[in-house]
Amino acid sequence: MDKNKLLVEKKEKVVAGGGAKRVESQHAKGKLTARERLELLFDENTFVELDAFVTHRATSFGMDKVEAPGEGVVTGYGYVNDRLVYAYAQDFTVIGGSLGEMHAAKIVKAQENALKVGAPIVGLNDSGGARIQEGVDALSGYAKIFYANTMSSGVIPQITAIMGPCAGGAVYSPALTDFVFMVDKTAQMFITGPQVIETVTGEKVSAEDLGGSMTHNSTSGVAHFHNLSDEDTISEIRRLLSFLPSNNAERTPLVDSGEVEGFLEHLDSFIPENPNKPYDMRDIITSLVDNGDFMEYQAYYAQNIITGFARMGGRSVGVVANQPKVLAGTLDVNASDKAARFIRTCDAFNIPLLNLVDVPGFLPGTEQEYTGIIRHGAKMLYAYSEATVAKVTLIVRKAYGGAYIAMCNKELGADIVYAWPTAEIAVMGPQGAANIIFRKEIGEADDPVAERAARINQYDEEFATPYKAAERGYVDDVILPHSSRARLVDAFVMLESKRESLPRKKHGNMPL
Ligand code: HXC
Repeated sequence: MDKNKLLVEKKEKVVAGGGAKRVESQHAKGKLTARERLELLFDENTFVELDAFVTHRATSFGMDKVEAPGEGVVTGYGYVNDRLVYAYAQDFTVIGGSLGEMHAAKIVKAQENALKVGAPIVGLNDSGGARIQEGVDALSGYAKIFYANTMSSGVIPQITAIMGPCAGGAVYSPALTDFVFMVDKTAQMFITGPQVIETVTGEKVSAEDLGGSMTHNSTSGVAHFHNLSDEDTISEIRRLLSFLPSNNAERTPLVDSGEVEGFLEHLDSFIPENPNKPYDMRDIITSLVDNGDFMEYQAYYAQNIITGFARMGGRSVGVVANQPKVLAGTLDVNASDKAARFIRTCDAFNIPLLNLVDVPGFLPGTEQEYTGIIRHGAKMLYAYSEATVAKVTLIVRKAYGGAYIAMCNKELGADIVYAWPTAEIAVMGPQGAANIIFRKEIGEADDPVAERAARINQYDEEFATPYKAAERGYVDDVILPHSSRARLVDAFVMLESKRESLPRKKHGNMPL
């Protein structure tokens, strides 16, 4: 037989995966196949498949008679917006995308190659989990993936999309990566499924409620991006990659936004007269960043803090901003976790930080104290202090107490701190402060209500301004809101050559 023809036939067999019927069933579930997903991920005709001929060597439970084209996972490299990216996509049409020894070996090889050449890796997960017939070899395979995930952490960006089932310990590879995408309705992640839960605890829950995309995006915080379809997910992964460097030794790409630093007149009257009136911080963010393009990270989780990627003057920045619309923008346990993780992700990948502050404090209450707001809040202090990327803070309204520090003030290493004239930088808000420091005067006054109002006013005028902080140099300048974009872009350009190093250590001991 013609040897070239044989090769072509063998390749065709691999490409056919589990066959037309299983592909049809995959489509009927609203899912694309592994190869269709990779085609969408990479620039046209750039994907190079590796290890197409790898196959399992299991024999138990009839596996010696089971053919698994491509071993249930397609791996290789290609280009996304002209930049090298490695990827693997599990093929649910082949033994349910289940993971055995050689399936795992293909993924680990892709991980090691990506690390060697300093390219991001994208995993598209769609799998029934450990291949039951392979027993402990499957567990060994998972462990090797987790190890490679950990070795790659902070060196190359690791992105996972959950596009089907993901159960048991299989969820831990995604959890070890930097970014987790989930597809609405078709993706589910859980350690123990609904049947096991019902058997053990009697609790009844659907798979979607237990581990669907919205559950993990809004309740558990395991996932970072919620997407409506396979196509939408992959297009958002391409978008995310555009904000990231290829590895920790590179800078983010410079993108010509074509936008000038305009006069943002609407910001001059943006902050409401009433200090307790909420507004949407997203309106400030989209006014400040290039073309209003903001890719929000964990948009559905701990919405009292906003995190995400944007560009200022063509370079990526990570935005961390209080959201006065939710819980008055206070910091709580979940917001602290979300922000700290995001800050460390940005720092690992040389993405400067823009911090927008309107924070009345940490959220008070027993629930917060009992769940460890001290331990969680400390993560923000740690993450900001440790971050050596450029850090620019803009205080637009409230900046009170420990939360003012936790949003990256000068002493935590902010390179530039600007404040709007509406900024109030103080130990606590005027109401609480007046009650404490003027308790005696208020108590002894003929008209305590009027006295209290007068004292609040006095405190307000003296302390609830940016000028006390500016007098000490804690604030570098008080700026007119309309000039903010120009001033911030200028600050990031000035900071491009920033160099800072940490004391030598094995690793720090961040509170977890
Ligand atoms: C071997 C598997 C498999 C698995 C699915 N298949 N999961 N084969 N090992 N884990 C096979 C099925 O037998 C079937 O083969 C084909 O894949 C498609 O599966 P279906 O069940 O027909 O698909 P669907 O109805 O969509 O259901 C998908 C599913 C279900 C919900 C994922 O297959 C399922 O519950 N699978 C088992 C999940 C599980 O418990 N995995 C172990 C988790 S523990 P045929 O030939 O009929 O097409 C774990 C530990 C990891 O993973 C620890 C890491 C540290």
